[in-house]
Amino acid sequence: MSAAPLHPLAQAANEALAKDCPVLLDLLSERGKRFFFPAKGILAQGAEAKQKAKTANATVGIATENGAPMHLACVHKYYQGLTPAEIYDYAPSYGKPDIRTAWAKKQREETPSLGDQLTSNPVVTNALTHGLGLVGDLFIDPGTDVLSSDLMWENYNLNWETRLEARYHYYPFFDEKLTGFNLAGFTQALSKFRGKKLVVSLNFPNNPSGYTPTKAEAEGIARALGAEAEAGTRMVVCVDDAYYGMFFDESCEKESLFGRLARASQNLLAVKIDGATKEEFVWGLRVGFITFGVKNGTAAAYKALEDKTAGLIRAYVSNISNPGQSIVLKAMQDPDFRRQQAEKVATLRSRAAVVAQECRKPEYADCWDVYPFNSGYFMCLRLKGAEADPVRLALLDDSGIGTIALGKRDLRVAFSCLTEAQIPAVFAGAAQAVRKVRGK
Ligand SMILES: Cc1ncc(COP(=O)(O)O)c(C=O)c1O
Repeated sequence: MSAAPLHPLAQAANEALAKDCPVLLDLLSERGKRFFFPAKGILAQGAEAKQKAKTANATVGIATENGAPMHLACVHKYYQGLTPAEIYDYAPSYGKPDIRTAWAKKQREETPSLGDQLTSNPVVTNALTHGLGLVGDLFIDPGTDVLSSDLMWENYNLNWETRLEARYHYYPFFDEKLTGFNLAGFTQALSKFRGKKLVVSLNFPNNPSGYTPTKAEAEGIARALGAEAEAGTRMVVCVDDAYYGMFFDESCEKESLFGRLARASQNLLAVKIDGATKEEFVWGLRVGFITFGVKNGTAAAYKALEDKTAGLIRAYVSNISNPGQSIVLKAMQDPDFRRQQAEKVATLRSRAAVVAQECRKPEYADCWDVYPFNSGYFMCLRLKGAEADPVRLALLDDSGIGTIALGKRDLRVAFSCLTEAQIPAVFAGAAQAVRKVRGK
């Protein structure tokens, strides 16, 4: 237990959770329980002044001139089409209201299975990494059990394991024959935590494999989680939708699992981590979102979670890039937004099709198995008879081709960064590297 006294606003948020969704209070980490949004301090006085200070407003920690944020011409020349207020002013810790509303609308449109299920408003994060960090801060204490697939983005370990001391458990992502998602292994792994608290991380399209479950598999995942929650496991299920929309095969489930999970059980808090980074091709703008959903969730319970989240944002970084949010919002409002985005996805789809042909050429059958892929930015090879890192190095040194070695035997290829013309040489070079390392 913490020695720090519980702030009355944290107490109030915890009471709201205890009253409406008691499992959520139980799921919070000690830090999560302590957090609140400091709505009554400088921010509240500033907000009050914004409404009423008609003569002069001496509350805000920015500098103004001619009724707008002060700024330098040598900075401003790099921006077109944004007002100084859309660039230089601080954004609220929760994110700019308009982009929160626009993103919530987008989520609803793309997730029909949410139906009329109430969810929180998305809170803006410094892209998805920060969203994942917030999930950790809110729900992970040292020793909290986390269940993940073995194929995963390695930064989760840095974020939740190294930083927050979560205890990681893994299940094999694919079935043994590499035909699809390992539902049996996932279900069995889940059952080991019956009656406990568990954080489950899901990421589809998956980094590094580029796999999205089929509709039947997605249904199976949602059922397994719902059944386990109903059997008494208290769960936070983090749905990382970083690569949402990059679907290249009709068999993919094109809806986020958040939709089904948000209404699955009162013992299951679904947290959607998504954002513009990969979906809208704006990696460096750093605009993401965290959204909560739970069966029978109430406005008061969601408000408590949003306040705790915004409080953490206020504490660490105060608020998220205003120009990033302004640009993403304007793009979403642009009549050409959907068409332009679809064009880029089509480019990736064509590359994925070339990769699918090249990597499975019969002459490479002795060099690797191909993990199933149907979406996202990546695909992965499971190498035969050669370790991944020496193969990566040989491929780099002999052919000048960069890939990522993961663990002992997996090689990740980001086809999102390859032209179609470059793809054949990547796999030819990889086969040459495998044979060199293997000695035959
Ligand atoms: C699965 C997954 N989640 C989250 C992220 C982080 O994305 P962002 O750049 O928005 O922080 C990545 C980035 O590679 C990723 O692959």
